[in-house]
Amino acid sequence: MDRIAVLTSGGDAPGMNDAIRGIVRTALDRDLEVVGFKRGYEGLVKNDYRMMDSPSVGNILEEGGTILQTYRSERFKEAEGLRQACENLDELEVDGLVTIGGDGTFSGALDLDERWGGQVVGIPATIDNDIGGTDICVGFDTAVSTALQALDRIRDTATSHERTFIIEVMGRDSGHIALTVGLAGGAEEILVPEIEFDLDAIADRIVREREAGKLHYIVVLAEGAGKGFDVSEQLQAKTDMQTRLVVLGHVQRGGAPTAWDRVGGSKMGYHAVDTLLEGESGVSVGLLDGDRNLTSFEEAIKGKNIDEKDLEIARTLSS
Ligand code: F6P
Repeated sequence: MDRIAVLTSGGDAPGMNDAIRGIVRTALDRDLEVVGFKRGYEGLVKNDYRMMDSPSVGNILEEGGTILQTYRSERFKEAEGLRQACENLDELEVDGLVTIGGDGTFSGALDLDERWGGQVVGIPATIDNDIGGTDICVGFDTAVSTALQALDRIRDTATSHERTFIIEVMGRDSGHIALTVGLAGGAEEILVPEIEFDLDAIADRIVREREAGKLHYIVVLAEGAGKGFDVSEQLQAKTDMQTRLVVLGHVQRGGAPTAWDRVGGSKMGYHAVDTLLEGESGVSVGLLDGDRNLTSFEEAIKGKNIDEKDLEIARTLSS
């Protein structure tokens, strides 16, 4: 193996830059050349790349986003796009590719692994935390910290005005951010797409607890669990209590990565290179108890379960 490539794809996640740095510096240490494709799979299809040297990844540990840019490429999903991507990799004499991203990125990596002659490994990096085979995905810890800061501030105003607040966090198909933020922030309700909920029962609880003296009621809602506006309107109507909605949105995707996301990105980047050198392909390079853990793309894409016990703990502690 002489030359590897790296790309970031899908939603950006704080710590992606740490993973890129980990890959580039480890590869150079192992006498490998590194090609950085821009805008994820779109760059692979368009052959848009640059060579990465050690200074190219200097001073990026604390930078959110991704220096390689990212994209959700539709072209790559078509047979012609995939064919072009394989051809570009072959012409550039790339032997191995590291893709950094979430489930969409891993699906693309799986297609490439089946079609292309080189090796492909992935680094789980998504604020949604919905890739299996790793304790947490790069970016999740920062996103949770950002959302938690917002929740703490909202609780102040919720208490002063004795209101119900719906805080909508990201997670189209995944409730991990909602669950962790809700548990850490003492939310009264946590609504996730993986588990059904009953708004009438929630409204009854709000009325009961407010009558018992609770000054506020915080509902953390994952975006995939329902439309924040509708949930807010319905709860206001059912409880006859002032209800406000805060949609945190993309603010959760930015900012300097936390220590965990820097360490996670750095270690996964380092291990990804050695995983390629060992001849592996078609695997996600995650961390379990701090050690490298390889999981097939198929398994990794299945994601991680929401622990219903955590929801029960959150409810017990907040009532
Ligand atoms: O996959 C990460 C994520 O932030 C999801 O939680 C969210 O639903 C989606 O990306 C938003 O994507 P976009 O930035 O393309 O609107």
